[in-house]
Amino acid sequence: MSAPLLFVGARQVVTCAGPARARHGAEMRDAGVRTGVAVLVRGDDVEDVGPERALAAAHPHAAIIDCAGGVLTPGFVDSHTHAIFGRPRYEEQELRAAGMPYMEIARRGGGIHASVRDLRSQHEDDLVVLARPRLGQLAASGVTTVEVKSGYGLSLEHELATLRVARRLAAALPMRVVPTWLGAHEIPLEFRERTRGRQEYVELLVHEMLPRVAAERLARFADVFCEPGVFTIEESREILLAARAAGLGVKLHADELESSGAAELAAQIGATSADHLAAVSDVGIAALAAADTVATLLPATMLFLGRQQQAPARRMIESGVAVALATDFNPGTSPTTNFPLVLTLGVSQLRLSCAEAIVAATVNGAAALGLASNVGQLAPGFSADLALWDVEDVRELPYWLGAGRCRASWTRGKPCHPRDLALAS
Ligand code: NIG
Ligand code: FE
Repeated sequence: MSAPLLFVGARQVVTCAGPARARHGAEMRDAGVRTGVAVLVRGDDVEDVGPERALAAAHPHAAIIDCAGGVLTPGFVDSHTHAIFGRPRYEEQELRAAGMPYMEIARRGGGIHASVRDLRSQHEDDLVVLARPRLGQLAASGVTTVEVKSGYGLSLEHELATLRVARRLAAALPMRVVPTWLGAHEIPLEFRERTRGRQEYVELLVHEMLPRVAAERLARFADVFCEPGVFTIEESREILLAARAAGLGVKLHADELESSGAAELAAQIGATSADHLAAVSDVGIAALAAADTVATLLPATMLFLGRQQQAPARRMIESGVAVALATDFNPGTSPTTNFPLVLTLGVSQLRLSCAEAIVAATVNGAAALGLASNVGQLAPGFSADLALWDVEDVRELPYWLGAGRCRASWTRGKPCHPRDLALAS
């Protein structure tokens, strides 16, 4: 086995150490900022975090990685992206600015439908070529684990193709890639036009797509866009319970634009996460607080859509909900791969503290993907997923608006960004 790695010289090591599960409410206040400590990595995992001199003396043959006064954090977990798509949709931005709502653009055949037409015209190999540098950009912003959804295929053929693209990206890149099947992202236009089209599409999802996705182990989770005008509560329940029975974890796009009881559904069926929640009701917040469902908030989406409303994150945390932060990277509502920008919005728009934002981006992001038992912390036994930042204090991560200061990152102890990293001496 190769020599262990010893990360030394960090001004701060942010460990997020603690219970290996989602942090709820006040538990999010402590990000475990330590000084004078080093991190020992052996193979894929963190072996020890402790006083620098003692660790250096105990492991004289370790390869030293000099953090040169930077800040070391767990690698970020971006638990909600739609990174596999074809062309960008910049034309919709000025339509919205001129007053046309997101849902109206969709009703006219734009929005998700536009990305579906486009993706169906692309070759699988080209989708890999398009998505790969996007994941590279996420890695360059400190992300070491990324969830990737399908949802721009909306046919058996194209949903399976999208998930195969995710599988190829997972094999080709050092990042941990978690695939989610989002066949229920929209009712495709060819079904919307038919009288029984809605029911027929739900039947296709449950009886044709899901069995193939499960049999070929193409996804770890199933997700549904549960929103008035898209999938109803009843349809979402049916699809997600079928997915659960087929062995997938479940997630929901819940109460994104309008409150419809989707957070309550997520809590009731024990979803791993309920995402968006900008319009969540008080009953929904109480249901999430009482459940084991992580509330994944996506503040870049509301910012980009030009909506004043953001998820009531403070009320959620004060009610004891476990909150995660993610980019929602997609061509329609959140065209950003800048994870630190999401931290900034977490603090300035959602009013989280820096520590809460960091916990939301690490431990709770991992919990939103069912990975909290070994991802999201710099602690013995956890996956060696680290990000090194060119800052002096962790509070600079949300502070430098729009700046990417990630010098390097590692997933499972291997360079993630840049990939030809030669920092070890
Ligand atoms: O999370 N809301 C549904 N899905 C995406 C947007 C998809 C799109 O517009 O392409 C979201 O915001
Ligand atoms: Fe989304």
